[in-house]
Amino acid sequence: GWDGALAAEVIAAHSRLDGACLPILHALQEEFGCIPPEAVPMVAEALNISRAEVHGVVTFYHDFRATPPGRHVLKLCRAEACQAMGVDRLSAGLLTRLAIDWGGTTADGSLTVEPAFCLGLCACAPAALLDGDPLGRLDEAALDEVAREARR
Ligand code: FES
Repeated sequence: GWDGALAAEVIAAHSRLDGACLPILHALQEEFGCIPPEAVPMVAEALNISRAEVHGVVTFYHDFRATPPGRHVLKLCRAEACQAMGVDRLSAGLLTRLAIDWGGTTADGSLTVEPAFCLGLCACAPAALLDGDPLGRLDEAALDEVAREARR
């Protein structure tokens, strides 16, 4: 949960570095699992930059998230080779069945689905990473299995 004192400590510990914004954001995400919206004005103040600038950095880097992830994270590749193998239709179906959008987390907190842009697994497209482990030649059944396993 949100802990303003802890956030202030994390920010203070990194704010003297050159280019402190990224190190601070990484440290916050490590601590909280995301960049809590409450932390954005604190970072802005510590670095004497605007909230919009901090927000811009958070949204520019795909590694930062505004909400904590689910227990498992599926990164589905949406780049060319995977598209040619039908990942758009596959992912649309999965997201509908899970009732989430890209970047969303299932209501039970078991699975977050994020877009990825070429995982270097084009030879076994459509491809994904589940908690960092490669998955290839995905089809609807395989994706449903991922979602089912995530709930256990
Ligand atoms: Fe999907 Fe390369 S295009 S892994």
